[in-house]
Amino acid sequence: MPYRVAVAVSGRGSNLTALVDDLSTDDVARVVLAISDRQAPALAHAAARGIAAHRLDDYRDASEWMRLLDLARANLLVLAGYLKLVPSEVVGAWAGRIINIHPALLPLHGGSGMYGGRVHAAVLAAGDPHSGATVHLVDEIYDRGAVLGAGRVAVTAADTAETLAERVLAVEHRLLPAAVRAAAGAGRPVPFEFT
Ligand code: GAR
Repeated sequence: MPYRVAVAVSGRGSNLTALVDDLSTDDVARVVLAISDRQAPALAHAAARGIAAHRLDDYRDASEWMRLLDLARANLLVLAGYLKLVPSEVVGAWAGRIINIHPALLPLHGGSGMYGGRVHAAVLAAGDPHSGATVHLVDEIYDRGAVLGAGRVAVTAADTAETLAERVLAVEHRLLPAAVRAAAGAGRPVPFEFT
């Protein structure tokens, strides 16, 4: 029985697509639901791949989240570029079963308002020699749950926020499937090795 994965998205959905493609090679896990707070391109990508895609009527309504997750019989909720807070009742009920991917090496450059280009601009402004992507457990505080795995990229003197974003995104597309495969193997999100 494949491990059943729900994915929450707000934007273009490249991580969702990379995850779906990776999981299509065997029966370890399967994306069964895409959820969004808006009419995101990611929802259309999911629907085009035959995945149930749902725009939330009210992203603050925990009961709507719980109903969708129950209906999909999801084992895991992945936040892949989901930019709103998940309702605290959902985080409580799903403790230990929600993971997020962040485009920096947490605990650096996380927190409220830190997403997309802002994250990479902050890395460059700080002069960090490395950046990367992190998968972590989700709790009530943005980007603060236990880190499960991370992938690094070197920052070069020539980098702009855009070039750095591109290299980090390539790492994200391998890191997230690795996190989901580790979770499927253990039956819950667990720390995993990534190279
Ligand atoms: C990804 O880079 C993800 O790490 C980031 O949003 C992007 C979504 O891209 N998430 C955050 O910044 C969360 N704080 P995608 O829609 O193409 O997967």
